[in-house]
Amino acid sequence: MNLAGRKPNIAIVGATGLVGSTFIKVLEERKFPYEKAYLMASSKSAGNTVAFDGKDYVIEELNEHSFDKDIDIALFSAGGGTSAKFAPIAAEHGVIVVDNSSQWRMDPNVPLVVPEVNPDAAFDNKGIIANPNCSTIQAVVPLKPLYDKYGIKRIVYSTYQAVAGSGIKGIRDLEEGLKGNDINIAYPHPIANNCLPHIDVFEDNGYTKEEMKMINETHKILGDDNIAVTATTVRVPVFTSHSESINVEFEEDFSDIQEIKDLIGSFPGIILRDDPANNVYPLAREATGTDEVYVGRIRRDFSVGSGINFWCVADNVRKGAATNAIQIAELLIKGQK
Ligand SMILES: NC(=O)c1ccc[n+]([C@@H]2O[C@H](COP(=O)([O-])OP(=O)(O)OC[C@H]3O[C@@H](n4cnc5c(N)ncnc54)[C@H](OP(=O)(O)O)[C@@H]3O)[C@@H](O)[C@H]2O)c1
Repeated sequence: MNLAGRKPNIAIVGATGLVGSTFIKVLEERKFPYEKAYLMASSKSAGNTVAFDGKDYVIEELNEHSFDKDIDIALFSAGGGTSAKFAPIAAEHGVIVVDNSSQWRMDPNVPLVVPEVNPDAAFDNKGIIANPNCSTIQAVVPLKPLYDKYGIKRIVYSTYQAVAGSGIKGIRDLEEGLKGNDINIAYPHPIANNCLPHIDVFEDNGYTKEEMKMINETHKILGDDNIAVTATTVRVPVFTSHSESINVEFEEDFSDIQEIKDLIGSFPGIILRDDPANNVYPLAREATGTDEVYVGRIRRDFSVGSGINFWCVADNVRKGAATNAIQIAELLIKGQK
């Protein structure tokens, strides 16, 4: 469906969740243009009211008939199983789904989009567009200008991921744990005063699913399967905003580190925080509540011919989920260049 120039009718699926409630906040903040809105969740919260844009909406239970109505765009954040079942139903009804779960990301018929990096891919959809994993989104934004200028041979990701990435239950585990009450609902071990090198399930190759998501999604978004990528993903006792150490080896050399800083600092969606002499570098507490990707500690990796290390932080619920999805919807309304 061509949405260019339209004021669409929108649905928020999973409107009561952490990402869903952030959708509401970000849509309001960005004054996203829409005609009608429908808020949906499970039977558990159907009938409750949620305020959006100064109006009270009754939460509807998501079911097979939810998309019989005149909906143009549906922002899904209700888990992979829900997306697996209901995104195709919505697409069959002519709705464009922007899906936050991992369900459709690696489907060759589904574009995986970060608007600063591969905006054109969004227009190549068959009714479902996938929002990448939160840790991948913030990584590929600074990697894109580097990839375009120098080519990338290899990437090593090490992540320090906030509990908000596990939704409301992750936040509760940390809140309770900090009070000395280890409830362990989201994780196999207490998260308070701990670092868990375990995000999502373990796969047969010894990596976690989160690590494999970062590897596979980086290839798909940058459109290059030849980049060697490896990852270690770690859950840390921080409420919101993921931090990442990223090591990159380039195909070609760069002249000096300032050239890299200028390149990253002038890329859309990035705020450079790189003044170590004054203790300035990206911090989770600064990124939380904002939509940008913060980059700093940029330095040459002396162990390879041409490479760098940097530190990158973003609000995982906003740029890593809700904001990125809404930016995709904005792209669709704006239309292709
Ligand atoms: N948290 C993050 O940073 C993040 C980042 C990227 C992607 N995501 C993805 O976004 C999705 C939601 O994550 P979250 O963190 O917002 O989780 P959450 O806080 O637990 O919220 C889950 C939402 O899904 C709804 N839901 C669950 N089962 C449903 C069903 N059968 N039908 C309709 N709605 C249903 C819930 O409704 P009820 O209130 O009625 O149960 C709730 O609104 C997940 O797929 C997650 O992987 C999360």
